[in-house]
Formats: sequence, structure tokens, C-alpha cells
Amino acid sequence: MRKKIVAGNWKMNLGFSQANALVHEVLHSQVVLPENTLVIFAPPFPYLQSVQAVLIGHPGFHIAAQNCHEQESGAYTGEVSASMLQSIGVGYVILGHSERRQYFGETNAQVARKARRALASGIRPICCCGETLEIRQAGRQQDQVHQQLEESLGEFTPDQAAVLVIAYEPVWAIGTGLNASAPQAQEMHAFIRQWLQSRFGREISEGVSILYGGSCKPSNAPELFACPDVDGGLIGGASLVAGDFLKIIRSF
Ligand code: PGA
Repeated sequence: MRKKIVAGNWKMNLGFSQANALVHEVLHSQVVLPENTLVIFAPPFPYLQSVQAVLIGHPGFHIAAQNCHEQESGAYTGEVSASMLQSIGVGYVILGHSERRQYFGETNAQVARKARRALASGIRPICCCGETLEIRQAGRQQDQVHQQLEESLGEFTPDQAAVLVIAYEPVWAIGTGLNASAPQAQEMHAFIRQWLQSRFGREISEGVSILYGGSCKPSNAPELFACPDVDGGLIGGASLVAGDFLKIIRSF
């Protein structure tokens, strides 16, 4: 049975003490995670270890990095490798987020290389895909997502695909307050699962968690998470407020 996941992508937000306070508040709420459900915090790099330390003894809670470099090591000033993340116990890494694509020119080919490097280090990639507003308005959203999937994940082996998490995040919904409707999300998630099936077979397609991201909040999470192919959310803004993040976790 595939996992239900709520992941909080903090982006470049929160000071160190605010970050710790947020995690403590979530943990002290005594939220009971339903079976097969994970909560992932994706703080900025400098906070990974301290958040990780707080999560010890809290089964079901994990950390993710927001990025990693495609090389193992070397003269790449300012970068962090997957093996470095693995060495401090990071279990997941968000790759190909639309902000990385938009501001840092990250390409599908780079996402593929980063994801392979992460997998080689034993880290599960949370690979993001999603169409821009112009593409949605032109009705070509499936074409764009198909191309992203093919070029970033198409060369994976079935074993590699089996441990992926995919996040569908329409660019027009990220940070805008406009979310995809439940039918729009379900349609795209089913399309992504169909792609997984055609590439890697039914068993793998049924096992991969596909998260929705883009203005997911307490008011819309229950409806989105009720869709059969929506296995949880990648949450930006609402993950910075403990009460909102908790309500989203409780939406399952
Ligand atoms: P948002 O961001 O929830 O603030 O729209 C989601 C994301 O970028 O992962």
C-alpha cells in the first residue's frame, strides 16, 4: 500500500529559533499519524541536523533537503551533495521544484542526474513536475508534465522508480492562493500514475506516492486528499504555521 505523505517545504523561510519552535509545536500537539502516513519537514540546509535531532523517537516523522548537487563531491562552492545529506541521516530530497527551475535554470536532465545521485546515496527523491499558467490555459498541461516525467524520470530502472515520490505542483498554484480543484488534481495525478504504469508496470505505479502542491491549506486539503490518486501534499506557506500544518496532517 502506498504511503500517505504530508511534506512541509519551508523554502528560504524562518530563523533558527522559529524553526525549532515550529517543529516542537507540531510534535507536542500529540498528533497521531494514521498507519502508513509520513510527515516530512524540509527545512533549509543549516537546520537539517537540529530538526533531525528533535524528531528522534517520533516514528513517522522525517526530514528532507530542498535540493542537492548532481556530483558526488568536488569544487562546487556553495553546493551540498547527496552523500553529505545521507551522512547526517536525511532520507528525502526535493528535486526539480519550479522555483529551482525558474530562478536557477534547473532542467529536466539535471533533475534526472540529481535524482540518480540521490538514489545512489540511499535518499528518496521527491521529484516535482507541473505546468505553467500559459500551458494550462492552452490546454497542454499533460504534454508539459509528460515531457518533464520522460526527461527527468524516464531512464530510471523499475527499482529506482519504486522508491520515488512525485509531487504535482502546477506553477500557477504555487504561492498564489489559487489551488488546482480536486478534479483537476485527480485528473493529473491519474495521468502521472498511468505514465508510471506504462514505464515501470502496474505494481510500481500503484506503489508510488503522488503528492499535490500549490496553495494546499487546511480548507482545501480534505477535498484534495480524498481524491483516489492524491496521496498527500507538498505544502509551502501553510507548513510555516504549526496550526495550519497540523490541520493538513489531520485531513487524512
Ligand atoms: P505553496 O507552495 O503551498 O506556498 O503554494 C507549495 C510548494 O512550492 O511546494
